[in-house]
Amino acid sequence: PRRGAGLRREAVLATVPVAVAALLAAAGPASAGTIGASGAGDPYFPLSGNGGYHVKHYDLTLRYDTTSRHLDGKAVLTVRATQKLTRFDLDLKGLKVTGVKVDGTAAGFRRDGQELVVTPRHALRKDQEFRVTVTYNGTPKAVTDPDGSADGWIRTDDGAFVAGEPQGAMTWFPGNNHPKDKSSYDFTITVPKGRTAVANGVLRGQHTANGRTTFRWHQAEPMAAYLATATVGKFKVEQYTTSDGIQVYNAVDAREARAAAPVLKKLPSVLKWESKLFGPYPFRAAGSIVDHAPDVGYALETQSRPLYDSAPDVSTLVHESAHQWFGDSVSLTAWKDIWLNEGFATYAEWLYSEQHGGDSAQKSFDALYARPASDHLWAFPPGDPGSGKNIFDTPVYARGAMALHELRQAVGDQDFFTILRAWATEHRAGHGTTAQFVKLAERVSGKDLDGLFHTWLYQQGKPNKA
Ligand code: ARG
Ligand code: ZN
Repeated sequence: PRRGAGLRREAVLATVPVAVAALLAAAGPASAGTIGASGAGDPYFPLSGNGGYHVKHYDLTLRYDTTSRHLDGKAVLTVRATQKLTRFDLDLKGLKVTGVKVDGTAAGFRRDGQELVVTPRHALRKDQEFRVTVTYNGTPKAVTDPDGSADGWIRTDDGAFVAGEPQGAMTWFPGNNHPKDKSSYDFTITVPKGRTAVANGVLRGQHTANGRTTFRWHQAEPMAAYLATATVGKFKVEQYTTSDGIQVYNAVDAREARAAAPVLKKLPSVLKWESKLFGPYPFRAAGSIVDHAPDVGYALETQSRPLYDSAPDVSTLVHESAHQWFGDSVSLTAWKDIWLNEGFATYAEWLYSEQHGGDSAQKSFDALYARPASDHLWAFPPGDPGSGKNIFDTPVYARGAMALHELRQAVGDQDFFTILRAWATEHRAGHGTTAQFVKLAERVSGKDLDGLFHTWLYQQGKPNKA
């Protein structure tokens, strides 16, 4: 996916400002191999992410007018080149870009679909650290995903529900929009007084002047772009610190408050229970955003602070909380591995039920296994769902969890829980692949598990029981 790479030089020159074009001409032709790829190489979403650099930090300054729906944005990215770069892409869909600077100097730029193509005045050396500043504005529009759902900046009656999985981060800030690349974040978000802007991590400050309130959030631990949020609404806010020192910030739409209260009360005990199973909670902040967004139809494990479209039930709270370990702290390198997120979070729901007086995991497994071979559950294998259209479908969640249950049956409880914990610990704040998980399970158990994983993750149709 080097879609931009073959573009002729004339085409670039035709669209960059004249002064920059003249400089480029003086610098001589861009040699091959110095242009950052337009995608991260993920066949499910070929244009998501980009090649040639790593974003260390995003500093996002946003102002959202909940009446006009207008967003003003400034993004300052601290970036390290992983190759020599005469040109590179950021992902950004919609909105109007008013300027791009690289290390304070105006750079050439043009739009090409979801790619913002940047031509710095001087080539960037491999390993060079540089700063990219993008100013932009407009009315953000959500993206429609291959499965028909919407994600990104989704407007609500009193603000916006901002959830970026898998593609939507590019609807509200320019960046490297693939979970392969993780970064720390600062958010400075200004909204009309009376509205609250909730992002990830710790609240650093809040200040009201001239009818507007500015919220400053800091996400220290590395985060994939799709897990960033800047959700805006009329929220009731609750803040406290748990006995483990985790800073909790809950923001709840008044229309959901009554239903949400008994569930949110369980957050500290759920995190404690998950910490016992999976190892220490990976972030310094936690909490929930309970919005009232009836058209959305899903929740998202936005890092440190999951986002719900309505009051969640306990199972959903357990699911999104489990993602903090599986999906957020340990990230995907490719969307086809999505079962590492959804199968694990679903299995956490089964375990929670089993250990809190509900159905056993075995019972959950059996109920699913009883479904006939024609059931949609068996429509495709979870280890490679085939396309971006299928990543949030039942086989990924349910058969993914069944694969973990089969692993547990094969290796026994002691090794199984050692494996889960080792996975979260060894890949903490990083990435993991299915192949690495299989290797870990084999190392801990001393068993050859290729057959088991092949059957449950990759075999077409309903597996036969061993
Ligand atoms: N990861 C979310 C969950 O926990 C689902 C996100 C669905 N996103 C979407 N665009 N449909 O289940
Ligand atoms: Zn999930």
